[in-house]
Amino acid sequence: MTSNENMEKVIDENQQGNTLTLESNDSNNRKLYIESYGCQMNFSDSEIVASILAKEGFNTTKNLEEADLVLVNTCSIREKAELTVRKRLEKFNAVKKTNPGMKVGVLGCMAERLKNKFLEEEKIVDMVVGPDAYKDLPNLIKEIDEGRNAVNVILSKDETYGDVAPVRLNSNGVSAFVSITRGCDNMCTFCVVPFTRGRERSRNPQSILEEVNDLWDKGFKEITLLGQNVDSYLWYGGGLKKDFEKASDMQKATSVNFAKLLELVARAQPKMRIRFSTSNPQDMTLDVIEAMAAHENICNYIHLPVQSGSNRILKAMNRLHSREEYFELIDNIRKIIPDCAISQDMITGFPTETEEDHQDTLSLMEYVKYDFGFMFAYSERPGTMAARKLYDDVPEKIKKRRLSEIIDFQQRHSLYRTQQHLGKIEEVLIEGPSKKSDTHWKGRNSQNTVVVFPKKNYKVGEFVNVKINECTSATLIGEAIEHSKNN
Ligand code: SAH
Ligand code: F3S
Repeated sequence: MTSNENMEKVIDENQQGNTLTLESNDSNNRKLYIESYGCQMNFSDSEIVASILAKEGFNTTKNLEEADLVLVNTCSIREKAELTVRKRLEKFNAVKKTNPGMKVGVLGCMAERLKNKFLEEEKIVDMVVGPDAYKDLPNLIKEIDEGRNAVNVILSKDETYGDVAPVRLNSNGVSAFVSITRGCDNMCTFCVVPFTRGRERSRNPQSILEEVNDLWDKGFKEITLLGQNVDSYLWYGGGLKKDFEKASDMQKATSVNFAKLLELVARAQPKMRIRFSTSNPQDMTLDVIEAMAAHENICNYIHLPVQSGSNRILKAMNRLHSREEYFELIDNIRKIIPDCAISQDMITGFPTETEEDHQDTLSLMEYVKYDFGFMFAYSERPGTMAARKLYDDVPEKIKKRRLSEIIDFQQRHSLYRTQQHLGKIEEVLIEGPSKKSDTHWKGRNSQNTVVVFPKKNYKVGEFVNVKINECTSATLIGEAIEHSKNN
């Protein structure tokens, strides 16, 4: 995946919901339509919700018109993401005219942010459920069945849904998400996530391993360990990350950090490809990079958002590292894993950002030459530190101009990176047909770049060695020469 596709993904994230369905269970008789927006965690959460509701008699449907219950799993990260959900609610309202029995519930970050206000602002909404309250859905649904509105937006200290086996919705049967932490304690000043997803807590490594083993048994070949800040993973018997200091000596001695978790997972399933997202530069340690280098099945790819290249802006964002420390981390990654792909998230037009700060971002990008990236214009989020303390003073036009400049840089760097793969033979995991051609497969190499090649007799879920012959800035094009030894 490179910048073109990323741009599509960014647009997807904001503008298109994704409907999820699972195989029907014959004894179930009510129909659930569930749509998800935003980050991978939301998609993963929807799989937990579908699992909880399958036990309550719900099968999923792709057909909105026939739904008994419509759920929308929402994103608050930028204003546009919220506006998209409001538009969808209008559509649900229109459908309700022909299907008056239909109930509508809002899940996720907007539910948490707006709470009861949602019921006042959007008359169509019957139920508001925050990200830590999904186990209460059976009770909440009873409430709405009896004609009352229902709200649960209580954030939890220990909910990780480790004991809920997610149903894999719309899965390609090859790759799956496994959530390992919830919440975030970082308090970046622009970010609404700490308010909507609560304090950071880690999931029991045993339950993570069980889920990974189960996925392998079901034929999955690749997992992505998910968290807002995976490097901060810390298991010491349960509880919040911030309470670790109060843990007993025994708990401290037997604690599992992210590097250890990676090792445990890599060893448990040595043929499974392992990815993770997202890494925060201030929390990423050398032992994680060393664990990646030590295990061939941990993919050589790190999503390492930096947001800005200016020390002054990094400080105002409460990103707890400098530009120089970031370069040091990049240098260490390249030293330990020379062919590691690195991607970014960037924000243009954070309050007080000057042209000079913007130039610092461009020069940082020039130094790193990211493989791909996700780039955004700053969007003020109510309740965040930046919204409370700083005036959103960069005009929209300037934010957009700076955004298009960093996108141009990224496009050039993406092409530079894809060109480095030309002539090489790389292992690719086949995920499914190419979007553009029925006769080609699509998969990704270890670095997460999309590779397209003629199908021949190869099958979805197989590892193949592909000779890379051509590239665009987003895609590698090649020819499969043999099965890889990993099958
Ligand atoms: N740690 C998280 C980050 C979530 S937000 C993760 O798992 O990815 C994803 C990205 O959205 C951030 O890295 C940031 O670049 C962008 N973002 C967050 N808040 C924003 C805001 N107020 N305006 C514009 N972009 C924002
Ligand atoms: Fe948001 Fe910063 Fe956490 S971007 S999710 S507060 S690491």
